[in-house]
Amino acid sequence: MVGGGQGAYIGNIHRLASRLDGQWQLVAGAFDVDPARGRDFAIAQGLDPARSYGTYQELIAGEAAREDPVDAVAICTPNFTHYPIAKALIEAGFEVICEKPLTATLADAVALEALARESGRFVGVTYTYSGYPLVHEARVRIARGEIGDVRTVQVEYPLEWMSAPIEKAGNQQAAWRTDPLKNGRGGSIGDIGTHAYHLAGFVTGLKLESLTADLATFVEGRALDDNAHVLLRYQGGARGLLWSSQVAIGNSNGVRLRVFGSKGSFQWYQEQPNELIYTPLDGRVQVIKRGSADLSEDAAARTRTPPGHPEGYLEAFANLYLGFAEAIRARREGREPGPAGRNLPLAYDGLKGVAFVEAVVDSAEAEDQPWITPVAV
Ligand code: NAI
Repeated sequence: MVGGGQGAYIGNIHRLASRLDGQWQLVAGAFDVDPARGRDFAIAQGLDPARSYGTYQELIAGEAAREDPVDAVAICTPNFTHYPIAKALIEAGFEVICEKPLTATLADAVALEALARESGRFVGVTYTYSGYPLVHEARVRIARGEIGDVRTVQVEYPLEWMSAPIEKAGNQQAAWRTDPLKNGRGGSIGDIGTHAYHLAGFVTGLKLESLTADLATFVEGRALDDNAHVLLRYQGGARGLLWSSQVAIGNSNGVRLRVFGSKGSFQWYQEQPNELIYTPLDGRVQVIKRGSADLSEDAAARTRTPPGHPEGYLEAFANLYLGFAEAIRARREGREPGPAGRNLPLAYDGLKGVAFVEAVVDSAEAEDQPWITPVAV
């Protein structure tokens, strides 16, 4: 692991989730921007002092020189460091698991996706919400035509935690997220709008045709948007509406997806992730429960407990790690991956996310908010 040291947010989620199925062991790390603190943290995590590195460059040199180097490296650092770290890892022959957004700039995302493709290295991107079993279930059922042709997609990711200027009060996570050089051009849209955009495209299978956007910055002195409204036109005629907000008081983590088709609809809410709401045309509202016997193999492969025993965020994150392990193993063994290793978020999905943010900011900054087609869809 690179990043995710003392006081970091997502690194610990990666450590917990990667261990859940016994497919990964954390054996080396450069956890912190401060090399000494990073080494101390690694040792406190129980790592071999010889594999407790001060920098990612040391990690690459140290692991490349070993007979038993790490199989993959998870990048859990602020956005602007993803590209140099991932590039150096891929060039040294390592597989990569990278946090979203893939990079802070579009140029970096284009270069990284090309490098991943040409090198043949595995690059997984941790779009968390595509780890939930009922999100897969919705994807499978929509692909089967259960709600007919998709007409409109409503996706939202509201958060409340940045409703006050906490970046000025020493909040580590908010500080770099409000710095365009460290975060990238999109504030709420880059941080969480990318999750919503991926979720909508993943579940519906739709590809974007164009978008127009309205960005706002409500907290005084903030350099980036903290609220975004985006209108989406998908190829084939479907429409969408995406809302991301860091100032939506009352929302802890309110990811919500609603897909309306010609024959029915699906609704899913991440704070109630064990239920998928299905409504057929002229029929009754039905609750599809995670773990039910009649679900798809895609959902079953991502389910550990029977219905009634709630699974949630950590399990969804673990499903990404389970899938990455299966995909990497299958490729090394020259076979097709099993269902847990299919339909994973990869480098091209990461590029699509960064291209989406670029198009949103371009549209919002232009005077007439033009419809724009992202460079990757
Ligand atoms: P954070 O600020 O809490 O942690 C960043 C960590 O990276 C710190 O330990 C810092 O010392 C370390 N670091 C920075 N530069 C480094 C370098 N050059 N070498 C080694 N370590 C370095 O940030 P947070 O909130 O954990 O976010 C990290 C990444 O994860 C971001 O890209 C963010 O967008 C993403 N994220 C994804 C989530 C998801 O749902 N998938 C949720 C939260 C964050």
